[in-house]
Amino acid sequence: MAAPLLCVHDVKRTYRTAHSEIDLFDGLSFEIEAGDKVAVMGASGSGKSTLLHMLGGLDAPDSGDIVFKGTSIVEASHRWRCQYRHQQIGFIFQGYHLLSELTVVENVALPAQIMEGHGRSLRMAKELLEAVGLEDRLQHRPQELSGGEQQRAAVARALINHPAIILADEPTGNLDEETGDKVLHYLFQLIELRGHSLVMVTHSPSVADRCDKQWRLEKRVLKEVSRSR
Ligand SMILES: Nc1ncnc2c1ncn2[C@@H]1O[C@H](COP(=O)(O)OP(=O)(O)OP(=O)(O)O)[C@@H](O)[C@H]1O
Ligand SMILES: [Mg+2]
Repeated sequence: MAAPLLCVHDVKRTYRTAHSEIDLFDGLSFEIEAGDKVAVMGASGSGKSTLLHMLGGLDAPDSGDIVFKGTSIVEASHRWRCQYRHQQIGFIFQGYHLLSELTVVENVALPAQIMEGHGRSLRMAKELLEAVGLEDRLQHRPQELSGGEQQRAAVARALINHPAIILADEPTGNLDEETGDKVLHYLFQLIELRGHSLVMVTHSPSVADRCDKQWRLEKRVLKEVSRSR
């Protein structure tokens, strides 16, 4: 059997402020396999976003290790971690985070420009925007799109470098159910087609039901929960 994509071993994270110290995790250990689709649920403040940021190399654990295909992303150099974030991880945030100065197609092409060059990255972006049903919005600015359209563009941007893992933090949290369903339809269709793994934070059991595995962060530990349907 192939080795897991990500091995998380005894990870702890403490936030220290002037007045308090918060220990978020008891020591999390789990694995993400290629093709896994995992939903992470849990109360507000339980550490879901912190966990996602650590998996993506945006934040570091205070102890423990996170290993991607045999390399510790904690011990690796800053340069290696930047490449890891750029090439292996696709982030989708609740608030879209598209750049308002760029057109939609430029936003999606941006992460691929260094590796693929200007012309090819724009062609790849156009193809992905067609795949999320935004072929008529290529030259719009993000602020000229609806929330659901902006998130579909953010899905395309997250996928453009063929990352191994998509990390999505409440990707439909700002959208009504119908619009959110449409975003998830495109996201899951592309993930299936292109073979990405997914770790998705959500508060919605019906959104979580789209994933193969459901985990809950509770009392500082991560537990597998049975699917609601
Ligand atoms: N930079 C920081 N400094 C201090 N404490 C922080 C910092 N970032 C997060 N925290 C604290 O850590 C806890 C976990 O935060 P996190 O954002 O990971 O929660 P979450 O599970 O994603 O919550 P939500 O569902 O509301 O998004 C919270 O109690 C928060 O106050
Ligand atoms: Mg959060």
